[in-house]
Amino acid sequence: GAQLYAPERPNSRGFDLTHAPTLERIEAARAPFRDHHWTAAPILAGPSAPEAGAAVINPANGTHTGTVAPTSVADVQTALSHAHPWDAPASARAEILNLAADLYEENFGEIFALLTREAGKSLLDGVAELREAVDFLRYYAANIPDAAPAGLFTCISPWNFPLAIFSGQIAAALATGNAVLAKPAEQTPLIAHLAVTLLHRAGVPATALQLLPGSGMVGAALTSDARINGVAFTGSTATAMKIRAAMADNLTPGAPLIAETGGLNAMIVDSTALPEQAVQAIVESAFQSAGQRCSALRCLYVQEDIADDVLTMLKGAMDALGLGDPWPLSTDSGPVIDQLAQTGIRTHVDVARNEGRVLKELFAPAGGTFVAPTLISIDGIGDLEREIFGPILHVARFKSGDLNKVIADINATGYGLTFGLHTRIDDRVQHVTDAIHAGNIYVNRNQIGAIVGSQPFGGEGLSGTGPKAGGPNYMPRFCAPDRQQADG
Ligand code: NAD
Ligand code: ALA
Repeated sequence: GAQLYAPERPNSRGFDLTHAPTLERIEAARAPFRDHHWTAAPILAGPSAPEAGAAVINPANGTHTGTVAPTSVADVQTALSHAHPWDAPASARAEILNLAADLYEENFGEIFALLTREAGKSLLDGVAELREAVDFLRYYAANIPDAAPAGLFTCISPWNFPLAIFSGQIAAALATGNAVLAKPAEQTPLIAHLAVTLLHRAGVPATALQLLPGSGMVGAALTSDARINGVAFTGSTATAMKIRAAMADNLTPGAPLIAETGGLNAMIVDSTALPEQAVQAIVESAFQSAGQRCSALRCLYVQEDIADDVLTMLKGAMDALGLGDPWPLSTDSGPVIDQLAQTGIRTHVDVARNEGRVLKELFAPAGGTFVAPTLISIDGIGDLEREIFGPILHVARFKSGDLNKVIADINATGYGLTFGLHTRIDDRVQHVTDAIHAGNIYVNRNQIGAIVGSQPFGGEGLSGTGPKAGGPNYMPRFCAPDRQQADG
């Protein structure tokens, strides 16, 4: 059982973007950061000799958001030799993590500006991301298990939740008393630098938390040293497999790998669904965050009987999407993260276009790494060879009698992250949700935006090792195996 060191705290209140005075407060707080140039570098407990600084690009327009000095080979050794588990009492660790959560909330203006200018996030996405980061800090602080830490944990995170996932991994590792080596994605070092600065300001010791920005090579060095006792990784399935191999070759047997990876997420809309509700859920799930959520909808199965109606409504709803620079509140969907991502997604759409399978394609704004939200017709999810990480929705039609085949095809992908179902038949809810292999299943709503504490998030199969983040089974995995408490 978890021991509570702080009263259970409610989730972060966030910001109501329909409330004019709140919006004015946000605009005033982020205005000073509209043209700010940030700098980031390794934050080590010993002397640092980082590499030459590189530009961090705003994906919406190619301008420079800041500069990062990546971690050198010598820096990795310095970090490893200076790391020391956080041996303060659990109650003191919890207090400091709660203080960090307060500092995150106080710095909302800079955080929203950075999320937009470094990661291309809309303000709506930024508000959700800050809330999730704060929720992780408070949830883990409130639920520290009574067990010894593993020791030294490497935390490697992706660019698509550069604050929330970065902070969530670190918070769990720190709450349990580990030392942490944090390796943010190469695209988003600036927000990681701000987060670590705030955690240190709250009182996390320098030896307990060090920041090592840089490429996957830095990540590889941090997962192949025998001094490391565990790895928390969120990113692509391919990278998780490389890390697993590196750990098997170099780390002590049994060192935990907590991997949260990609998905080929489906939704089934049957003929009893409410079309307006389904269409809103589809648009949010497929196109919010420019489709750059691991949870995002990739393959919509719509029952033949209502497919024409649903697709007509869906195309209309797509026309209403605000595309462009994510800074203005009116923007629903911003750029994809960089040119490499843009080229890969566009190549996928080009192939579909040449085969006559593009059902609808919006116009991509010029100037940044934008990809137009697009609908592509497919026969079934088996046609998708990989996760297309952008605003591309694949649509397949199915006949009523083929429901079980659809379920089998979805399960056969081997992924199992999110799944959505729209139906008004109660027995069908039971049947489909029992049969689908996915970590997070949503009925008659969108399938993104899991809430820390009430919707623990994580996949199965190729989508992750479990345990789910933001749930009761997560933190025990950061503890020493021989002294772990029952994972319940
Ligand atoms: P990525 O795998 O390319 O990179 C993730 C991190 O791994 C980065 O910090 C990168 O530098 C590092 N890395 C790369 N090679 C490495 C190596 N050999 N050893 C150690 N570290 C290495 O993923 P990405 O493009 O940043 O993120 C997008 C992917 O993340 C998508 O597949 C998405 O579905 C997935 N994702 C999953 C979740 C989840 O909770 N399941 C959440 C967000 C994103
Ligand atoms: N936790 C994030 C979501 O649910 C990835 O969308």
